[in-house]
Amino acid sequence: MKSRALLGLLADGQVHSGESLAASLGISRTAIWKQIRRAMDDGVRIETIRGKGYRLLSDMDLLDESRIIQGLAPQHRSAIELSVLDEVDSTNAEIVRRRRESGTGRIPVCIADCQTAGRGRRGRPWQSPRGQNLYLSMGLTFQGSFAMLDGLSLVLGVAVAEALEQQGVPDVGLKWPNDIFVGGSKLAGILVELQGELEEGVVQVVAGIGLNVHMTESTDVDQSWSSLAMALPDRGWRRSDLATSVVSKVLEAVDEFAERGFSRFTGRWQSRDIFAGKALVATQGELSGTGRGIDASGNYLIDDGSELVRVRAGEISLRVQS
Ligand code: BTN
Repeated sequence: MKSRALLGLLADGQVHSGESLAASLGISRTAIWKQIRRAMDDGVRIETIRGKGYRLLSDMDLLDESRIIQGLAPQHRSAIELSVLDEVDSTNAEIVRRRRESGTGRIPVCIADCQTAGRGRRGRPWQSPRGQNLYLSMGLTFQGSFAMLDGLSLVLGVAVAEALEQQGVPDVGLKWPNDIFVGGSKLAGILVELQGELEEGVVQVVAGIGLNVHMTESTDVDQSWSSLAMALPDRGWRRSDLATSVVSKVLEAVDEFAERGFSRFTGRWQSRDIFAGKALVATQGELSGTGRGIDASGNYLIDDGSELVRVRAGEISLRVQS
């Protein structure tokens, strides 16, 4: 959205004249008017007061780069390279491009106000309406082999669950391998994509996190979903603060995972398992049985009545039997 700087000025809810806005942004009053029109077309409620100026009516939750950075611990602040974008095809794709172009040695983090081609797991699209949710990707590098990716995917689920709990969300559940649930519906999803092997034994991945924040309507989601606004309507949510918590918890978790391995996460994952003790069926194949949590590598265990069957992430997806 070209008008993000303009909306930043209007965010205080006061009346601002076209002249003062034009002077602050170094553009003409006509350009201000065009941006106001475009923002209104995008659904932003702005009141035009004749002879006085403009006033923002809706309580907008703008992404605020400096607030995100300020909220991070100093060691995390210096470890990342943050870009906050108005619009992008996919923040995961943007991380891949940025890594090809530059190598500052810092961890690239990209957050966008909207995605035009947001992608989910299994080739599904990810609904990414403007200004509504958090769309965040991080470029992570690990010493090791591709085999660590299964564990990593679960570690990221734990990190996002802990970030939400830090922000006051109760009863966060994990649906294997790493969907985040509240109140029986999906609140957030994680897409881990392999970028490649930088050199022998150094693996690069992109971790993309989509978290529904303000969205209350969508016709295009093919599963039961929720958002923070739907689950906890009495709380105001700031996407920037959620972003700070998610980035902090992911950085902490990946360091712990790299140094100490997956065993540090099994208990934290199991305690949030929404499948535990439930009758499950695999969406492909014959398998059905009772959910028994994960093993030491992050595989899901199903008791089929005669033995514990191990299911590997990526091979199969599970759902509760209806
Ligand atoms: C899922 O299907 O559950 C994973 C959804 C992941 C969506 C996020 S939004 C930020 C990042 N960019 C993308 O295109 N996808 C991920």
